[in-house]
Amino acid sequence: MALETAKRPAFEKPSRKASQVWKTLSDSLRPKTKSTDDIILQLQKCFLKELGPDQAQKLLKSADCSLFEEKAEFDDFGYKRILIEENEKFNLVLMCWPEGSATSIHDHTGSECIMKCLAGKIRETRYKWPVKKRQSLEKICEEDLKKNEVSGINDEEGLHLIENPSTAERAISLHLYYPPLSECLVFDEYTGKARRIRLKLS
Ligand SMILES: [Fe+2]
Repeated sequence: MALETAKRPAFEKPSRKASQVWKTLSDSLRPKTKSTDDIILQLQKCFLKELGPDQAQKLLKSADCSLFEEKAEFDDFGYKRILIEENEKFNLVLMCWPEGSATSIHDHTGSECIMKCLAGKIRETRYKWPVKKRQSLEKICEEDLKKNEVSGINDEEGLHLIENPSTAERAISLHLYYPPLSECLVFDEYTGKARRIRLKLS
């Protein structure tokens, strides 16, 4: 009697149903941030429940921060800072950049700064701290952040200037400062001279 060979099932592509299950599963593993309030609440948990800044950074990277775009307001004469949340541990600021707008070169006066680009493109130029009086600041590097890209800086890493390099498109970015930032030093690029300013938050 001839031996019957076992029939091998034909390879089948995953069904739509299976991919839907996978999507639901991945969604459930993401932080539950379906609104700006959720994101703020999760950030508060990171800091107030001692989960720590690392978790806050991860959250900011993974969360859908485009939800904050609806809070954007633009001033055609310069960039605008909108205070989203402030408590004893951190402040969260939405920055709205008209075409070609830029900050001065500044420090972060002891705070860590994490920033995420939400729309358009923002350019960060880093400088070394001045070492001598009346000397131009030395540039370290320049980096463009595109939508959803994240970068961070603290005083040990230097000073920086942020700008919207586009002449055709506005930009929006979200900035997390911890401890909260309310003032900073701004520097003259050509003399290195610094003065302290209070941040205007609307
Ligand atoms: Fe900054």
